[in-house]
Amino acid sequence: MPKWSLVQRLLQVRLSTCLFITLCLIAVIQFFASYGYYKYEHLAQESLRHHLYVQHNPKLITKKSKPDCRYNDILQNSKSVHSWDIPRKFNDFLPNGIINGSYTPEDCTPLFSVAILVTYRNRQSQLDIFIPYMHSFLKKQNIHYKIYVIEQQDERLWNKGLLYNIGAKQAMLDKFPCLILHDVDLLPLDESNLYVCLKQPRHMSASIDKFRFVLIYKSLVGGVLAITSDQYKELNGFSNRFQGWGGEDDDFAGRISKHNLEILRFPPHMSSYTMLLHKQEHKNDDRHRIMEENEHNSQKDGLNSIRYRVSNIKTHRLFTMIKVRL
Ligand SMILES: *[C@@H]1O[C@H](CO)[C@@H](O)[C@H](O)[C@H]1NC(C)=O
Repeated sequence: MPKWSLVQRLLQVRLSTCLFITLCLIAVIQFFASYGYYKYEHLAQESLRHHLYVQHNPKLITKKSKPDCRYNDILQNSKSVHSWDIPRKFNDFLPNGIINGSYTPEDCTPLFSVAILVTYRNRQSQLDIFIPYMHSFLKKQNIHYKIYVIEQQDERLWNKGLLYNIGAKQAMLDKFPCLILHDVDLLPLDESNLYVCLKQPRHMSASIDKFRFVLIYKSLVGGVLAITSDQYKELNGFSNRFQGWGGEDDDFAGRISKHNLEILRFPPHMSSYTMLLHKQEHKNDDRHRIMEENEHNSQKDGLNSIRYRVSNIKTHRLFTMIKVRL
């Protein structure tokens, strides 16, 4: 028996030491994780309204008698959703007022029209959360918007840049002056995160929970990006040459800086997002090489050079689906 109690005691010491060390480690990690939270450069909250790109869709017909919608209260709203409060199922979602993925405020005339472009393949469970969540979020913002889902239907390598170009083309045909390029796995949490374009490109998902709310690098434009249709055209959209995961967004950031446009951001407390979990996609090993080759190629490779087959455009109540085979 004494032998056993010695072992037991040793075990106990070890256990409590382990526990202590683990706790210390967690504390250290937490400390460094929150470090940098407020570190990125952003617009001052008071100045935001001077940067807004005020433009609605010329096709939008509204009654003259309605007053212009107001946005100050939204920009100053301090309410945020907690990511754990987001339902995993939206069984009781009411699609009131939504037609063909589009919504227009009822009591006032919106000053902004926005096309939300979502590139998509094989993520049904995320789409099922994204679509109703975004409608509930956006309907409170007094904007006119429409959600487009651009689905790559084949099994070939994922080509997100090309899909965005296809979506942008359609949104421009539908006369939307502002595009928001949106990952399907990101959900905005702050009600003050007004979904509109600024006069310069705007990186919206600056503060993502998965990255511990830190902006990982300054020229990041991936995730959620708002850009005017005119600017998108001027940059010749995305490169169509990136196949597989990654690269196209950094290439796009290069196009933005080459055209002397500036990437703007809202303050962190207006820019937080939660990321829905998924498997890491296979990265494109060629992405750095293509980026170098593309350095002087952006006039020939982009919005003006897309070759593809849109197999059909289908309007659902909650979104317009553009199905593409590459
Ligand atoms: C919705 O889409 C359908 C099919 O494309 C079209 O016929 C209809 O006019 C659209 N409705 C509105 C209000 O835009």
